[in-house]
Amino acid sequence: MSEAVIEIRNLSKIYRDFWGRKKVQAVKSLSMDVEKGEVFGLLGPNGSGKTTTLKMLLGLLFPTSGEMKILGRPASDVSKNERIGYLPEESYLYRFLNADETLDFYGRLFNMSVADRAKRADELIEMVGLGRARRRQLKEYSKGMTRRIGLAQALINDPDLVLLDEPTSGLDPLGTREMKDLIKQLKSQGKTVVLCSHQLADVQDVCDRIAVLFQGELKVLGRVDELLEVRDETLIRTPSLSAEVQAEVKAVLDKHNISDAEFTRPTADLEQLFLRTVRESGERPGRRFSTEEVAASSAASET
Ligand SMILES: Nc1ncnc2c1ncn2[C@@H]1O[C@H](COP(=O)(O)OP(=O)(O)O)[C@@H](O)[C@H]1O
Ligand SMILES: [Mg+2]
Repeated sequence: MSEAVIEIRNLSKIYRDFWGRKKVQAVKSLSMDVEKGEVFGLLGPNGSGKTTTLKMLLGLLFPTSGEMKILGRPASDVSKNERIGYLPEESYLYRFLNADETLDFYGRLFNMSVADRAKRADELIEMVGLGRARRRQLKEYSKGMTRRIGLAQALINDPDLVLLDEPTSGLDPLGTREMKDLIKQLKSQGKTVVLCSHQLADVQDVCDRIAVLFQGELKVLGRVDELLEVRDETLIRTPSLSAEVQAEVKAVLDKHNISDAEFTRPTADLEQLFLRTVRESGERPGRRFSTEEVAASSAASET
């Protein structure tokens, strides 16, 4: 049986200007649930109301109307936030602290003991891969490292529910891949993850379900695999076929009046090419790869 960790009913938010005049309707009667243990993606272009929705869930913003329950409690009950981890769009971390000091500081906010703080910091720094940089001040961190220490900070209280606002923003493909692996790791630990993103393709392979928002309205909601399935085509994958075999297969298809079959080689996407190039550069430093080599290694990596 599934269990809703987040229940949103008819949620709306209107931002008003200084004189109380209506300025923007950021969220328009949104209703949706997030189930325990799933990775849920809130997707949509900039300004579609994703951050506003997350902030209302945390109780940082008051809704204009509607109901929300998080972990069985109303959003306005901030004590529920003890079981929630939050990575804001921009992490406001102290630039002059290092990774250890940062995690220690946030551990204190949750009244963790000295021993617990030290143990938790070790685990998280290991998990996000900042072991070698843990004593460097955050002002020296790259964008990817900043995102990773932000994630570690969001996890300091070992939350059941993790809200990530644009976790991959500003990251290169390698950093994005690593962030997605961390999200999968959270899921495997039984946590529920809600992430927001305007980089739709970046997150499609980590989300179980997605909601697409546009101008504050819910446009699409469902399982990613079902939403992206192309129902009126069949894809057959085989090792490369000779002209002779292709002709025979065509003959069979003709017999069934299927005339528009296509024989093509699959193309890898740029992300795969990039990740493979990085991996192989590590193995053979200083080499440049020709088109033929890239194609050959892509064939090898598919088997
Ligand atoms: N504090 C605010 N005051 C007025 N308008 C705001 C405020 N915050 C966000 N908005 C507006 O609300 C809409 C949704 O913003 P936001 O939730 O940040 O979208 P997203 O996170 O999807 O990019 C946008 O039109 C934005 O300009
Ligand atoms: Mg946002």
